Amino acid sequence: MSSNSLTITDNRTGKQYEIPIENGTIRTMDLRKIKVADDDFGLMGYDPAFTNTASTKSNITFIDGDKGILRYRGYPIEQLAGKCTYLEVAYLILHGELPTEAQLKNWNWNITHHTFINENIKKVLDGFHYDAHPMGIFISTVSALSTFYPDAKNIFDAENRHKQIYRLIAKVATIAAFAYRHRIGLPYAYPDNDLSFTGNFLNMMFKTSELKYQPNPVLERALDVLFILHADHEQNCSTNSMRGIGSSHVDPYSALAGAAAALYGPLHGGANEAVLRMLSEIGTVDRIPEYIKRVKEGNFKLMGFGHRVYKNYDPRARIIKQVADEVFEVTGKDKLLDVALELERIALDDEYFVKRKLYPNVDFYSGIIYKAMGFPVEMFPVLFAIPRTSGWIAQWEEMLLDPEQKIARPRQVYLGSDERDFVPMENRNPS
Ligand code: ACO
Repeated sequence: MSSNSLTITDNRTGKQYEIPIENGTIRTMDLRKIKVADDDFGLMGYDPAFTNTASTKSNITFIDGDKGILRYRGYPIEQLAGKCTYLEVAYLILHGELPTEAQLKNWNWNITHHTFINENIKKVLDGFHYDAHPMGIFISTVSALSTFYPDAKNIFDAENRHKQIYRLIAKVATIAAFAYRHRIGLPYAYPDNDLSFTGNFLNMMFKTSELKYQPNPVLERALDVLFILHADHEQNCSTNSMRGIGSSHVDPYSALAGAAAALYGPLHGGANEAVLRMLSEIGTVDRIPEYIKRVKEGNFKLMGFGHRVYKNYDPRARIIKQVADEVFEVTGKDKLLDVALELERIALDDEYFVKRKLYPNVDFYSGIIYKAMGFPVEMFPVLFAIPRTSGWIAQWEEMLLDPEQKIARPRQVYLGSDERDFVPMENRNPS
């Protein structure tokens, strides 16, 4: 018997089974041989919300939630955030290695030269009501891209895939900025190929009458760091959606629209928007104790606190706090920062939060920075989706090329009615 295995005794039958352990996991398919009778389906794992189930092997992102570690392709997030641009990190996430100078130049050129969108996509955008939420516009417009690029269906052609990857990373920023401009009724500002990825994004967002938009270098860099921090986060809800939808072999635009929809929820990428609304609702430092009391009574959650994986601290939150200081030097301090700092101080000292290992997550401070930079709260989830696009497509490509992956299709435990006869309308009971 291999020592790297698990011996299970089925007390229903007294039989013993040996299940191999590989990479700290057992294959739940191995449980299927555990049966009480030949016609028994066999044992399954039951894991609502996948809290203890690995759905894939991956080489992209490593997280140790207890130690507060996040690495892309082995590189610590702190080093990448300190030394790279977002596009360099996107290259790393997608290709597995940091680019050489020539590779980075070529990569940047390719992304930059795919930022324009078909003029007809503007008509899609124009169809939205003036106050449509930009994340709703973003999701629908990314989905519409699949109709503009029917070649994207050819997902097993590597060259074709790369073309869609350039398009997606580049065009999500343009769509995001155009969604904002549509909402406030400003003419769309076209991409400027002379600027960096984030410089150009700021240009498309905020350019007015000036001939050439000059981004503030501190804000441009801060946004780049925020994009690096949001680029990937292994098998979270939206990435799992990207992989799940992509596993049907649909084109990447349709899959990415689904991933973005998953990100929109307040428990995921919508949290930074929810944090800011929460801080505005609290308003002043003196109202914090009453607010915390209501959280502890179970009335609602403290947005921007807690994480499924990080139970020590979120390393991204630490980096973001430094970025916040640099941004506020330029923009002036937002009054909500005092509320956030005091809320964090009180919560980290409170037994309720300490016991449950609830710490500020990446979204606790990102919203305050975005607000100081001039982004409206509705844009926050969109700002998350732009860089997460690189993570989503890296995970999608890894899934496609993984010979062990198939169409994602979980099992269920059926607890509904047993077979019963149809009841005619006149005999039905109103209850
Ligand atoms: N405020 C108050 N209590 C909380 C919070 C919170 N933010 N988060 C968790 N708890 C409590 C739960 O009520 C639960 O308490 P109980 O044991 O008394 O029932 C306990 O802590 C464990 O929480 P779970 O909900 O089991 O943790 P889970 O891992 O399922 O949830 C999640 C993680 C969704 C992030 C949760 O902490 C939350 O809703 N946070 C607020 C939303 C948020 O900030 N989301 C952003 C996540 S980061 C991201 O997507 C980039």
